[in-house]
Amino acid sequence: MEDRRRSRHLLLLQLLCFLCWFLLPCSGSNGNREAIEIGIGIGIGGSPGIVIGGSPEPPHSPSSPSRSSPPPPHSSTSPPHRSPTPPHSSTSPPHRSPPLPHPSSCSNRSPPPQPLRELQPCDFANILQYRAYKVIQNFRKNITCDPYNITATWVGAQICSKGNTGYCGFYCEGPPDKRNMPTVASVDFNGYYLEAKTVRGFIDQLPDLAIFHANSNRFGDTVPNLTQLPFFYEIDVSNNLQTGCFPNNVLSLVNLSFLDLRYNGYSGQVPPSVFDIQTQVLFLNNNKFNGEIPANLGKTPANYITFAYNDFTGPIPRSIGQACNTLLEILFLGNRLSGCLPYEIGLLRNATVFDAGSNQLTGPIPLSFGCLKKVEQLNLAGNMLSGEVPDSVCRLANSKYGRLVNLSLSGNYFTSVGPSCVGLIGCNVLDVKGNCISGMPGQRPAQDCARFQKQAKPVCPTAQYVPCSLQEEELSLEKEGEEARDKAPTVAGYSTYKALRPPEGKKNP
Ligand SMILES: *[C@@H]1O[C@H](CO)[C@@H](O)[C@H](O)[C@H]1NC(C)=O
Ligand SMILES: *[C@@H]1O[C@H](CO)[C@@H](O)[C@H](O)[C@H]1NC(C)=O
Ligand SMILES: *[C@@H]1O[C@H](CO)[C@@H](O)[C@H](O)[C@H]1NC(C)=O
Ligand SMILES: *[C@@H]1O[C@H](CO)[C@@H](O)[C@H](O)[C@H]1NC(C)=O
Ligand SMILES: *[C@@H]1O[C@H](CO)[C@@H](O)[C@H](O)[C@H]1NC(C)=O
Ligand SMILES: *[C@@H]1O[C@H](CO)[C@@H](O)[C@H](O)[C@H]1NC(C)=O
Repeated sequence: MEDRRRSRHLLLLQLLCFLCWFLLPCSGSNGNREAIEIGIGIGIGGSPGIVIGGSPEPPHSPSSPSRSSPPPPHSSTSPPHRSPTPPHSSTSPPHRSPPLPHPSSCSNRSPPPQPLRELQPCDFANILQYRAYKVIQNFRKNITCDPYNITATWVGAQICSKGNTGYCGFYCEGPPDKRNMPTVASVDFNGYYLEAKTVRGFIDQLPDLAIFHANSNRFGDTVPNLTQLPFFYEIDVSNNLQTGCFPNNVLSLVNLSFLDLRYNGYSGQVPPSVFDIQTQVLFLNNNKFNGEIPANLGKTPANYITFAYNDFTGPIPRSIGQACNTLLEILFLGNRLSGCLPYEIGLLRNATVFDAGSNQLTGPIPLSFGCLKKVEQLNLAGNMLSGEVPDSVCRLANSKYGRLVNLSLSGNYFTSVGPSCVGLIGCNVLDVKGNCISGMPGQRPAQDCARFQKQAKPVCPTAQYVPCSLQEEELSLEKEGEEARDKAPTVAGYSTYKALRPPEGKKNP
């Protein structure tokens, strides 16, 4: 007990340090991105956060644009750009709501005086900034709506945002090959609600750009061809007006570490080569993608993946097991996926979230699910699953065996549960409402169950296969499991679930 409290204090301390580190004004360019750890949703109000481990070697290393830039737009509560940045940090939820008064320090600035004559290259810190200036001014003409008067700051020769000067949304850094010539390396328009038909001719013309964050704007068209940008590694165009088929231009950006396309109007199939991108974050939720999830899913090195709320059909690819060392959270939620759950899901030994709720999956829960020793949130509600809920899966909620805190199985056709499951119902870990379990309250009407029983049973040949030992963990892990449970965030605390969040909306003051 005492121990646990102490370690909680320790954790809190670490979190605080971590926060301070981010909130400190970034000085100079001591940023080595190898060392950067990413805080996701570090709730100041006490909800525990997740820390994603170090990001990969940055194209712009050793000093990254994200580190040396001042905090992005409304960032009073959040660290400066993190990468990979789970998009909808508290600062920039995906929204559809009309813009409200903007808390950004940027929009409150008085715009710099208009220059009296046309600016010349010698007016700028270096020729790269002059070139960027030309590109920005061209793009400015294409902006058809700017509710926060952001573009009013885009005048004069001082482009790089620093403190309270420079162009809102533009952050500079010397490119690796020209360290002493700082130029635009990062564009952060999150929450600006700028409207333009396209960002073609803009970001693709900023040759030293590494990061484009444009969550919650009204940019149409699609992702431009960025292959000419050697340092580019992060794109967030979530909650814009992008349409058409999957933006094939991203497929050649194999070193992209962060790809966020959620909350747009993309449709059609997702190409298999998306799983060749060496990305950590792949957010595709809330579009209109359809067709099957490509069979090579397991090739992806991504840690966080969301397919949720599209129109995907077909099975969950069996190759998913190949991602066993890297995949931490995955959401298939809210599609029309069908077929048996592949036993290979049970190989995901690092996964904390597995969510295939609200689909059309059939057959039993494979016994391999009892191997998901790290899983905290397991949602299979709203499918057509049947048979017995395996005892080994329910045992994962016992800290001797696993870390499960939420097992959602409501709205299926299960007919029985293992003995370890019974106790979990009372303590709100397991939800089996709306099934066909006799003697259990809140089940389907008997005739529904009878009708389902008469249908042909799906054949799931590997459902009995158990690719691990289901023994108790050693005692040393028991404690670790208990702590994990203390720390386990509520559903809203996970990176992928956050990506689903409806607008938090900026509150009217
Ligand atoms: C401005 O818009 C036009 C037409 O949509 C496009 O061809 C051009 O590349 C854009 N230029 C910039 C700098 O955004
Ligand atoms: C933007 O500028 C216009 C005119 O300069 C002004 O009327 C308006 O109030 C400004 N809007 C905001 C949100 O500051
Ligand atoms: C993107 O541009 C590069 C070089 O300009 C070109 O080789 C490539 O074919 C283009 N990619 C697409 C998908 O058009
Ligand atoms: C991707 O990164 C690797 C290793 O840093 C590098 O060798 C390769 O050229 C990069 N590829 C592209 C297309 O940037
Ligand atoms: C997966 O788990 C292994 C063993 O616990 C660990 O070494 C590895 O770092 C984990 N991978 C990720 C991406 O967290
Ligand atoms: C458990 O998971 C379900 C499905 O994802 C979710 O609706 C519910 O809110 C979760 N319960 C808790 C206590 O986190």
